[in-house]
Amino acid sequence: MVTLASEPANYSVVGAQHGCAPSRHDFLCLCGVIYPSTMPIDNPTDRTLAELGITNNSEISALFATVREQFDHQLAAKTGSEPEYLALHHAWLGRKSGILSAITDNWLKSAPPALKPVVGQSLNELKRHVEGRMESFRVAAEKSAAEFAATREKIDLSLPGVSRPIGTHHLIRQVFQEIEDIFFSIGFSVVEGPEIETPYYNFEALNIPEHHPVRDDMDTFYLELPKGAPGPLLLRTHTSPVQIHTMEKRQPPVRVIVPGKVYRRDNPDATHSFMFHQIEGLAVDSDITFCDFTGTIDYFVKQFFGEGVKTRFRPSYFPFTEPSVEFDASCIFCGGSGTAKTGGTCSKCKGAGWIELFGAGMVDPAVYGFVNYDPKKVSGFAFGIGIDRLAMLKYGIDDIQVFFQNDVRFLRQFP
Ligand code: DAH
Repeated sequence: MVTLASEPANYSVVGAQHGCAPSRHDFLCLCGVIYPSTMPIDNPTDRTLAELGITNNSEISALFATVREQFDHQLAAKTGSEPEYLALHHAWLGRKSGILSAITDNWLKSAPPALKPVVGQSLNELKRHVEGRMESFRVAAEKSAAEFAATREKIDLSLPGVSRPIGTHHLIRQVFQEIEDIFFSIGFSVVEGPEIETPYYNFEALNIPEHHPVRDDMDTFYLELPKGAPGPLLLRTHTSPVQIHTMEKRQPPVRVIVPGKVYRRDNPDATHSFMFHQIEGLAVDSDITFCDFTGTIDYFVKQFFGEGVKTRFRPSYFPFTEPSVEFDASCIFCGGSGTAKTGGTCSKCKGAGWIELFGAGMVDPAVYGFVNYDPKKVSGFAFGIGIDRLAMLKYGIDDIQVFFQNDVRFLRQFP
């Protein structure tokens, strides 16, 4: 504690020991005790020299020496961090409330002319001293912050790396890819379409008018729309609407496949899911024949299941193809014999030797009417492959639900 000689009783300049960041108001705190302003203890920098009873040069020098000493003590108590620097800077050099501003206001400006030179000189010295030390403090604080950051960011190349497991494509995505590659190789390209459709694209333009019984097989999710919204919308029940979108946009020749998700109100079981996957195919040109059609499908089935597989087609019915067929492949489990390797009836084809694959047909001329193609000039074929079913057949999976459960024990089997 340093007591000012000229002031007998009521204040003393202290504070160095406790290292608090001082302000004009806690200049006189005693080891951390901050006196409320109502207490009789004053801050000398808040008073004029006359009020402090200072009358000669040597008292002024002593007063400044005490202030400087206090600054040095406060500085010495700091550890050198940036927040400490800022607090100390604010306390001493702050424009409005800094101690040096207070000294200028209260000691210098009102000093009697005889004392002014020495007060001015002492203040300048004190200022140089404080600024010089604060600058060194700032440089040291910056340096230690940079060093700290550098140590924290240092990379130890001898440490083992963090291995990040790489995922794989889902089996459905892999099967999509296999099928797309086969069709790419014979000149088809991929297009995609919306999963939310209007009844026009999902049904009417595919030659399925409003009360057609085929709609019963495609029990549908309709969207709840806000009042006044135009027309009903539904989740597409098949990828066939993209045939219409494609023909609306392109002129023949058209050779596209359309992979995507489709939705039906089916109750989930081992072969049904309310969401599943299809690839639609469409080829339209000026001279496409039934032979082109069956040849293309036969090529695809052999590429996908193996050269040894035989194909056949049976008459079927779809409103948007005429004639329509159902393609079958010879049973890939019993080789088409109908007899399991163990001797009994093959459980997969139930002894038939054939497995139903997917529906297809020659595009019905009525469909061309919806897209402004001239049915006299163009012909083509279409097919709709159920991807989940094909994947189940090819990879021996007997429950469609495993595709959607995301169980890694299943997924890891198809890396
Ligand atoms: N869209 C039909 C369905 O989901 C499948 C289909 C059958 C698509 C015959 C076709 C086709 O393009 O020609 O049941």
